[in-house]
Amino acid sequence: QILILDFGSQYTQLIARRVRELNVYCEIHPYNKIPEITSDIKGVILSGSPCSVRDEGSPDLDLDSLRGKLPLLGVCYGSQLLAHKYGGEVLPSEIREYGRANLSHLDTHYDLLKEMSHGSTVWMSHGDTIKELPEGFDVIASTSSVRVAAFKIQNEETYGIQFHPEVTHSSEGKNLLRNFVVQICGCSQDWTSDVFIDATVEELRNKLGDDKVVMGLSGGVDSSVAATLIHRAIGANLYCVFVDNGLLRKNEFEEVLHSYKDMGLNVIGVDAKQRFYDALAGVSDPELKRKAIGNAFIEVFDLEANKIDGVKWLGQGTIYPDVIESISVKGPSATIKSHHNVGGLPDFMKLSVVEPLNTLFKDEVREVGRALEIPETIVGRHPFPGPGLAIRILGDITAEKVKTLQEVDYIFIQGLKDHGLYDQVWQAGAILLPIQSVGVMGDERTYEKVVALRAVGSVDGMTADWIHLPYEFLGKMSNEIINRVKGVNRVVYDISSKPPATIEWE
Ligand code: XMP
Repeated sequence: QILILDFGSQYTQLIARRVRELNVYCEIHPYNKIPEITSDIKGVILSGSPCSVRDEGSPDLDLDSLRGKLPLLGVCYGSQLLAHKYGGEVLPSEIREYGRANLSHLDTHYDLLKEMSHGSTVWMSHGDTIKELPEGFDVIASTSSVRVAAFKIQNEETYGIQFHPEVTHSSEGKNLLRNFVVQICGCSQDWTSDVFIDATVEELRNKLGDDKVVMGLSGGVDSSVAATLIHRAIGANLYCVFVDNGLLRKNEFEEVLHSYKDMGLNVIGVDAKQRFYDALAGVSDPELKRKAIGNAFIEVFDLEANKIDGVKWLGQGTIYPDVIESISVKGPSATIKSHHNVGGLPDFMKLSVVEPLNTLFKDEVREVGRALEIPETIVGRHPFPGPGLAIRILGDITAEKVKTLQEVDYIFIQGLKDHGLYDQVWQAGAILLPIQSVGVMGDERTYEKVVALRAVGSVDGMTADWIHLPYEFLGKMSNEIINRVKGVNRVVYDISSKPPATIEWE
């Protein structure tokens, strides 16, 4: 595997994704918590950073313990740190170096740059630049304004690059990473879904033995894939709980429960609708809604888990970005919304946690799900928030409002599917607004609800763009919704991106 040491750059996760796309396993660790360097680790990548090596207290590490022992690639800050620590000179750039640049000179004799083309476009994003290299460091690529765009240290496989090969704007960035990971580090490109599945199932079997595991399913891809893996390892000793919180999409509970049973999972379906509606009665504040739902879920789940004699483990569908966020250099990022509040481990349950997906990115989870032959209706499904429709009904929640929104949402999602648009959208849904507006139907004046439709494109939900759905399609949806859903007389489309808006309205 490849070890990526993170100095806090916004692009560190992207380096990991690109390496994984080469079918090579890698892990990100903070620069100040380096794991033991075992023989499994074939090379190290030093990430970029928002800091400057010239700043007092900037991130630093003992490079002597790595240099010359295994291949090393410094990216941006990582390369500046190498130059700075061994006697080179790093200074503020005279001109801003953000955006595209071209490698006007590059020496393709070096393994790192093999088969890259002269003039290759690379993405620069740095405020400092390496003015002087230490002794024994050779320049191997330059742009018109950055003399040291890449360097190699003589007699060792240590390289530094000023640009970011991990961003897609670096047109041959993937070649460069392949050169490093495969040619220089000698990693074999055999990390595939099937290998992951075999290794994980084996690991789970050893870890869990004859123990019982309980797990909450949500209908989403992460918990479904995690449950399927655990089920492969321990069969009927996995007990799944799927709660109907009354905030799911129309027919979702019955359909998903049916799919789970078809997949052979031992799943208990719990109708707890009323309990959630009671907990939410009169609650309008978004964070209080999340808390009420989280607490109600824990109560219901605890009740079910207690019925399973001698259960020792709690299965969870945690994925890699959640783990990275909680161990990152910056620490858990500031809470904008209290996500991940559903399915959290209540302390009093005293269960150990098993998280078979905590090394995978979302797209990898989907690939594993497909390799496990989980139905496409689950693997390809849009993300759906744990608190469900509660955070799409602005203001307080009633069973009647849920019913109205379920109907609207159903027409919209079915419409996207029927028009071949569902897979082009990362997430979509409808929002019930807490206002009424005047309309006219036949000869009657109406004064009814407004709904908003939302469809976004995204990679990981961190940023998102609104999707330019065809006007004809939107017109058709508006007609259908107003004609078929009682109590709604106006439909609007949300054209805000994230940031500055968020995907959900609450
Ligand atoms: P925002 O609204 O923060 O949403 O742009 C980003 C992604 O997170 C989902 N989301 C949640 N998921 N519990 C969840 O499990 C929550 O409380 C929650 N709030 C938002 C949202 O649907 C989107 O995919």
